[in-house]
Amino acid sequence: MSTQNQQARAVTINTLQKMKLDGEKFTCLTAYDYCSAHAASSTGIDVILVGDSLGMVVQGHDSSLPVTIDDMAYHVKCTKRGSQNALLMADLPFMSYYAELQTLESAATLMREGAQIVKLEGGAWLAESTRLLTQHGIPVCAHMGLTPQSVNHLGGYRVQGRDPENAQKIVDEALLLQEAGANVLLLECVPQSLGKRVSETLDIPVIGIGAGTDTDGQILVWHDLLGLYPGKPAKFVKNYLQGNPEGIHGAIRAYVDDVKEGRFPGPEHVYN
Ligand code: KIV
Repeated sequence: MSTQNQQARAVTINTLQKMKLDGEKFTCLTAYDYCSAHAASSTGIDVILVGDSLGMVVQGHDSSLPVTIDDMAYHVKCTKRGSQNALLMADLPFMSYYAELQTLESAATLMREGAQIVKLEGGAWLAESTRLLTQHGIPVCAHMGLTPQSVNHLGGYRVQGRDPENAQKIVDEALLLQEAGANVLLLECVPQSLGKRVSETLDIPVIGIGAGTDTDGQILVWHDLLGLYPGKPAKFVKNYLQGNPEGIHGAIRAYVDDVKEGRFPGPEHVYN
């Protein structure tokens, strides 16, 4: 099969699983509308996340808490139209999955708009919902480490799992969610050593953001990759547009190449 045909093949959860087995890094990027999704999927991004980060980067709130399931459904619908072969992941927003039936209904709403996997923030308490969703044919990405929907409970956007007990808790609960049927894990803002440990312990693919160099895939927020979000960027962010003569598409391609070749994240982007 030609390279062109291989590139045209749709990415599924099985693709990510195979890439993990083969030791091949995969790339993820958030997108929230037609053009960003089109740019991401036409430049080799494997997974597009319609993240509830849209509450901050699109709507201008200071957290993701105000985002509703209707907001998510609208942005999934727009993003789906631009996404070609990337796997389309969507966040279940704050308080849209506190009860089991409600979780199914929220996930179904996003799947009907074109999502192919849903992401939920939390640990062990989500085991039953994870089981229920996957039993109903809805793939699940668990989101652990820094979970922005719990920013008030965590006391800020802080690195998680720094002490041995909390690190062990993250490993144990990630294993529990894998056993419950989670297909992918996203790990946010943890020390490099914990990102490596979780990725090596789990059979399912692990996506990292601020989780070091050893996760199976990496994700960035669209506005961070392009240096659009005002204020001081987090340590794990790299502005790929700065100094790139090929504009937005060139910036995304440089990110893809860096992840695939193990150049991103660099030592300056990790927590030790
Ligand atoms: O909502 C979001 O953008 C996220 C990030 C971790 C990528 O979940």
